[in-house]
Amino acid sequence: MCGIIGYIGEQKAIPLLLHGLKSLEYRGYDSAGTAVIENGQLQVQKAKGKICVLEEKIAGNFGQAKVGIAHTRWATHGRPSDENSHPHMDCHKEIAVVHNGIIENYLQIKEELEQKGHVFVSDTDTEVIPHLLEEYYEGNLLQAMEKATKKMRGSYAIVAICVKEPDVLVAARKDNPLIIGLGDNENFFASDIPAIINSTRNILILQDGELAAIYQDRVDVYANGQKVKKEIVRIDWDAEASKKGGYAHFMLKEIHEQPWALNQTLQGRIEEEHGKVYFHDFSMSKEEAQRIHKIAVVACGTAYHAGLVAKYAIEKLLRIPVEVDIASEFRYRDPMVDQNTLLVVVSQSGETADTLAALREGKKKGARVVAITNVLGSSISREADDIIYTWAGPEIAVASTKAYLTQLMAVYLLTLYLGDLLDKIDLPTRQKMMEAIYRLPHQVEEILQNLVPELQQLAKRFAQKNDIFYLGRGMDYAVVLEGALKMKEISYIRAEAYAAGELKHGTLALIEEDVPILALATQMDVYEKMISNIKEVKARGAYVVGFTYEGNTDLTKTVDHVVYLPQTDDLLAPILSVVPLQLLSYYTAIERGCDVDQPRNLAKSVTVE
Ligand code: G6P
Repeated sequence: MCGIIGYIGEQKAIPLLLHGLKSLEYRGYDSAGTAVIENGQLQVQKAKGKICVLEEKIAGNFGQAKVGIAHTRWATHGRPSDENSHPHMDCHKEIAVVHNGIIENYLQIKEELEQKGHVFVSDTDTEVIPHLLEEYYEGNLLQAMEKATKKMRGSYAIVAICVKEPDVLVAARKDNPLIIGLGDNENFFASDIPAIINSTRNILILQDGELAAIYQDRVDVYANGQKVKKEIVRIDWDAEASKKGGYAHFMLKEIHEQPWALNQTLQGRIEEEHGKVYFHDFSMSKEEAQRIHKIAVVACGTAYHAGLVAKYAIEKLLRIPVEVDIASEFRYRDPMVDQNTLLVVVSQSGETADTLAALREGKKKGARVVAITNVLGSSISREADDIIYTWAGPEIAVASTKAYLTQLMAVYLLTLYLGDLLDKIDLPTRQKMMEAIYRLPHQVEEILQNLVPELQQLAKRFAQKNDIFYLGRGMDYAVVLEGALKMKEISYIRAEAYAAGELKHGTLALIEEDVPILALATQMDVYEKMISNIKEVKARGAYVVGFTYEGNTDLTKTVDHVVYLPQTDDLLAPILSVVPLQLLSYYTAIERGCDVDQPRNLAKSVTVE
């Protein structure tokens, strides 16, 4: 995920900028760069790779500049390279810009600017920003920025400098975090607190739509053209917490990033006028779509669980048969795939050895391969025919959370995309789904804000147990498999998930007094069946926690505790229902004193068979 720092003050800018970038390294990146104003000129240094490569380029030549911006880039539009690294500049090399986010209409803007004679040197969406600023510049960078923000669609945290105004840094924010650090005769912009925490603990948090200008001795923030007064927030994190964005563990941080990550996956993929889905890296003709007789989904671990959700969604909406395989099984079972099969491989890292081998096996047999992955330029993304990136940002905790949610989002988008091509989804259904999809990030946020104390209490109870059972039907079954995996991975409790109707065929023998059971009940077509299954375990003395939508208060009569989720379309419920299961695993693991981010025996990326 990209990182930003900007500085203006009395100290040499470059060492401060480099230091700030290093404290953002934990976010993951593939290139870095700095731009400072020295002797009325921009000095820009950029390098693919780690910050030490950039440092080697700079070679201690820090100069005297006291104003500058810097960036760590995690590639989205355009591969990692020196040219694609930020800062980007205008034609006259007078304006430099760093940017986090995605400018959705950059192609259109680029075309317009090229017609006006602007020359672009990178493949990035970001490069349109300095050129737009150049186009609008009439002696005031802030005014140019205001005009540029009216032209751009998408998400951004932008910081810009201009040689004609060396006493100011200008910024804009929409859907991407940006803060101002207030120092003593110096001020900062940063995407994250760790970048500036060594210099100041007093910050202002910019809100969406706000513009800001910082000077050595003054800070101005504007909303709708008016100056606004911002409240100073005091940060009291320690150094370790600051690496994790203030959270105790990367896993918790990543759980909390999920609303943002879902928006990232969605962004730029819904056509404004008709609400239709489209992808930049993937397009299929109607005829190609019609040739698909079967969809095979192949993945490992958590990604496999996302594949199970795909089966329910695709079969329900498209009526195309879907087979879901664990990659290590698929590759050795001589799978029945051919030119009429769409093979969907799901992999956060894009490097999992079995998934890669399954992809190759499918390709060999003639299948068209679509990869759902999070890592640009990964092996799977290079070998697949088409790619749907999840854009979740780097996931560091071994137990996958935000990658899973965004894989689900990508699956829904793919389903809707194919549904449109095949005329399988009528307009009212699609509109209803789209509205529900747009609500999801906010609803995940609600869960994160409201349910933590309740889940912490439950975790205290569960932490004492050796076994936990998870039950669900339909899509809920796919979700409890993921919930149980999370619990196993990080708390080391034996957690097993079952299709609720299957319980009485054996596992019911294990249910006795006070055994904890987590039962999902979000699929309304099987709600009553689920209640009957819950009664079966209650009759054996189990302690049951039910998860259902707000309003389904009748569940309280059957279970010991109900966790309520915001209402959504049943098909989309997995995106919401898995979140309390993630949190419950996290807090249970904490109660047991486990190493949450690096559980024993497990690895983040499994590149061996
Ligand atoms: C490892 C990780 C899991 C992950 C699985 C698949 O086992 O610990 O969290 O789900 O690999 O990884 P991928 O990168 O292919 O999604």
